[in-house]
Amino acid sequence: MRDITSALPLAVLESMQRATLRYTYRGILCLKNPFDFALYTKLIHELAPRTIIEIGSHSGGSALWMADMLRAFGIDGHIYSIDIRPVSGVTDERIDFVTADVRKLGETLSPEFLHSLPGPILVIEDGAHFYDTTIAAMRFFAPILRPGDYLLVEDGIVNDLVPLDKVYAKYDNGPNRAIFDFLAETGDRFEIDTDYCDFFGHNYTYNTNGYLKCVR
Ligand SMILES: C[S@@+](CC[C@H](N)C(=O)[O-])C[C@H]1O[C@@H](n2cnc3c(N)ncnc32)[C@H](O)[C@@H]1O
Repeated sequence: MRDITSALPLAVLESMQRATLRYTYRGILCLKNPFDFALYTKLIHELAPRTIIEIGSHSGGSALWMADMLRAFGIDGHIYSIDIRPVSGVTDERIDFVTADVRKLGETLSPEFLHSLPGPILVIEDGAHFYDTTIAAMRFFAPILRPGDYLLVEDGIVNDLVPLDKVYAKYDNGPNRAIFDFLAETGDRFEIDTDYCDFFGHNYTYNTNGYLKCVR
């Protein structure tokens, strides 16, 4: 697989990460960086997803921002934002917040529900960033994805951040290892979309090699 690290200089990552952790959208924490805000905006416009599934709601800011993007682009889409902790204080007709553990999604999301979701579908794995949780989400949603749909794996950047703060070592390169194994086990069904990953420079994104397009 191609180099999964980001070519962004460490000093830029450090400054950007500090700001990302306190960024707010409409007053609500929204843990995104400027590169991925731009890449998500482009992707949502180009894909025009009727369904967005987000693992990892946190404060609800990213779901709220995506709902506003859908509205701005005139896309008739809906967001299901899933988190192990309930979200309070954010309501939007386009968002359903769902409380569930990514390791046990089958207990909450039925096959009937999953197969009723209109495409195009955008799945965003932005949960715990450990190997097992990341690959659990990828394996759970892969069967419902069709050619043209996207599976975004957030925060492979945690591995690039280890030299800055040892706290990131606990993720044990989880997202990147999950992407590697997932691509190996799904054969030729998914491709790394380098048009997104490398739009601003090699993996100038927190989602290193993580913009995956379903192609078969
Ligand atoms: C990085 S934050 C999500 C950030 C959010 N998408 C944003 O951009 O603002 C990760 C979230 O994953 C949730 N999480 C952690 N473990 C989880 C699990 N096993 N199942 C579901 N969600 C989990 C945490 O509660 C946390 O809110």
